Amino acid sequence: MSQTQALWTIPNLDSGQAFLDYKLPTLFERLRQIDVEYSKVRFASSMAAEDLVLIDAIAHSKSAISVFTLNTLRLHAESVEMIETIRKHYDIEIEQFLPAEAAIQAYVSQYGENGFYDSVEAKEQCCRIRKIVPLAQALQGCQAWVTGQRNGQVVTRADLAFKELDRERGIEKFNPLFDWTESDVWSYIKVRSVPIHPLHLKGYPSIGCEPCTRPIRQGENIRAGRWWWLQEQKKECGLHQK
Ligand code: ADX
Ligand code: SF4
Repeated sequence: MSQTQALWTIPNLDSGQAFLDYKLPTLFERLRQIDVEYSKVRFASSMAAEDLVLIDAIAHSKSAISVFTLNTLRLHAESVEMIETIRKHYDIEIEQFLPAEAAIQAYVSQYGENGFYDSVEAKEQCCRIRKIVPLAQALQGCQAWVTGQRNGQVVTRADLAFKELDRERGIEKFNPLFDWTESDVWSYIKVRSVPIHPLHLKGYPSIGCEPCTRPIRQGENIRAGRWWWLQEQKKECGLHQK
């Protein structure tokens, strides 16, 4: 495999002293602020690098924020195995929210098992039944939720802020890593020896459902492997639609 064809690898980056002096304590302060202001808050975790940073920070700061994952039933086995890895490492339970069997059956009859490749509408409908509806269940009764989004990930997140109003669900939404760089994420993981999703070692910087995520080459956009058949503007599944 030539240099240009090499798969993405975990960057050997170091954000340096400014990261340790400023961004690291600022993250703990952000979580503390959320804890103080809201009583029922949940963190949505996909088990990718940013989310492991937040799980580690939540565990470290003894925050009351609880963690859940949307198990779409189309995840990689490695993502599901991470739930147990995290439980053992941090003694944290991650609640799983699953899609309804009847909704899956209706989807398969209308679009086919993998209909999401055929049209944007079929893709959006699949994400709706497997992610958006279970997300609404996960956030029932919550005052706020937390995500691992960063503003450098994709054009649709360029104007991301720490706090925003989730109009869809009518609650606050926090993005404590909104201003973190890829280098900050990997520096944190190194400094605090955070467990790593095995797919990050196989060319995947960004991890979603198995049929909609593939490894990328060095130099490609870090979300190039997500819904690779769609343009960047269409690469939101509805969890973070503005
Ligand atoms: S996605 O909307 O395109 O799938 P992305 O993979 O970039 O999102 O992740 C952004 C944030 O969305 C994650 O940091 C996490 O907070 C949330 N998220 C994504 N996928 C899941 C999932 N399966 N379960 C829970 N939260 C998720
Ligand atoms: Fe369906 Fe793919 Fe969306 Fe997962 S990412 S819910 S498999 S369309």
